[in-house]
Amino acid sequence: MINETYESMLNAKNIIRVLSEFATARGEEIGYDNVFDYSLGNPSVPAPQAFTDEMIRLLREEDPMALHGYSPTLGNPAYKEQIAASLNRRFDMHYTAGHIFPTTGAAGAIAHAVRAVTKPGDTVLTFAPYFPEYQPYITGAGLTLRVVPADREHFQINFSELEKLMDEQVAAVLINTPNNPSGVVYSEETLKRLASFLENRSQRFGHRIFLISDEPYREIVFDGREAPYVSKFYDHTLSCYSFSKALSLPGERIGYVAVHPACEKADKIVPMCGQISRGLGHNCPPSIIQIAVSNTCDLTSDLSVYEINRNLLYDKLTELGYTVEKPGGTFYIMPKAMEEDSVAFCEKAKKYDLILVPADGFGAPGFFRMAYCIDTEKVRRSLPALEKFTREEYGK
Ligand SMILES: Cc1ncc(COP(=O)(O)O)c(C=O)c1O
Repeated sequence: MINETYESMLNAKNIIRVLSEFATARGEEIGYDNVFDYSLGNPSVPAPQAFTDEMIRLLREEDPMALHGYSPTLGNPAYKEQIAASLNRRFDMHYTAGHIFPTTGAAGAIAHAVRAVTKPGDTVLTFAPYFPEYQPYITGAGLTLRVVPADREHFQINFSELEKLMDEQVAAVLINTPNNPSGVVYSEETLKRLASFLENRSQRFGHRIFLISDEPYREIVFDGREAPYVSKFYDHTLSCYSFSKALSLPGERIGYVAVHPACEKADKIVPMCGQISRGLGHNCPPSIIQIAVSNTCDLTSDLSVYEINRNLLYDKLTELGYTVEKPGGTFYIMPKAMEEDSVAFCEKAKKYDLILVPADGFGAPGFFRMAYCIDTEKVRRSLPALEKFTREEYGK
C-alpha cells in the first residue's frame, strides 16, 4: 500500500504555485512582460561575477576527483572553516569548523536542526506570519507545529499569545527574521525578550528549549542597517542559513546549520546532523559548490534593487491608503487587503494582471504578500495597475 499521508498531501493546493501557474498562462496570452507577477520568492539578480569566475577557475584548475567526489559526511573542511571565520568576523562569535554543518539550503538546515533537538511527538512553536513550508518541515519529522498568532500591528512577536501557547510539550521554537512574508526584521528588544522568556521556561519545565533561527534573508536588509544576529541573544540557538537569497544560488541547494558554541550539547549536534542526514538521504551537498562558496561566502549579489523596489511599492501602497508595515528587509511586503477576505481581494486583482498572494496560508488572514524580486522597470509599470485596481474595486 502506498503512503496515505503523502497521498493526501497531493490534494492540498499550493496557492503560490497555483498563482504562479496562472501568471505563466496569462503571460502566454498577453506577453509575460505585461503580467505583474508578485507571486514567487525567486531572486531576480544574478549571483556575483566573482562566484561565476570562481566556478570557472575551479573547473579549469582544480582536481576533478576533489571537485566531483563525495564530500566528507560532516562537510568540506574548507567550507566549514570559512563559514565559521566569516560569522566570527561579522558577528563577534566563536564558532569553529566543528559547529558548522553544510546542508541543502535552509530547507535542509531546518530538516537537520529540528531533528537534532526534538524527538517525534514533541511540539515546535513558531510565530505567524510564517513560511508555509514549516508545516511539512515539522510534521515530516513527526512533530506538531503550534503557531502563535501574529502581532498584527508591527509583526514583531506577540508575547501575550506566546505565554498562552508555551507549555512542556514545546521542545524548540522556530523563528524567521528577516521575515517571509512580512519583510519585518525582529528588533534587539524582541530578541532579548524572547531569549529571557525561553530561559525562564526552560528552567521552569526542567528541559532546554532550543531556538531554531531560520535566516536565509539575513543580508537583505535596508536603510543601511544590519539584522541583529539571533545567536547573540540566546546560547541555545541553531542558525539555519542559505545562500539561496543573498548570493542568488537557490538552485545550487547550499546552506548550513551553525550551532552556537555554548549551546547545550554543542559538540554533539553537528556529528548528530551527520547521522540525521543518513536517514534523510539529504547528505553531502555537492563538493564543487561547497568549495566555491567557501571562497565567496562574504559576498552577496547586488541587493540594491530590492530596496529600490521596496521603496516604490511602499510609497505607492501608503499613498493609496493601504495599511502596511514598512519592510526592513527581504524582498516581500505584506499589506492589509482592502477587504476582509484577502482571497477575494487577490482574485479581483487578477483582472488587472496583478498577481498577489493572500497571506492566509502564512497565518495572516486579511493580508496579502507581494514578492518584489522582479525588475524595477516592471515594478514601476505595475503601479498604475495597482492604482486602477484599488480605485475601481474599492473607490479609493
Ligand atoms: C523563510 C524561508 N525559510 C526557508 C526557505 C527555504 O530556503 P532554501 O531555498 O534555501 O531551502 C525559504 C525559501 O523561500 C524561506 O523563505
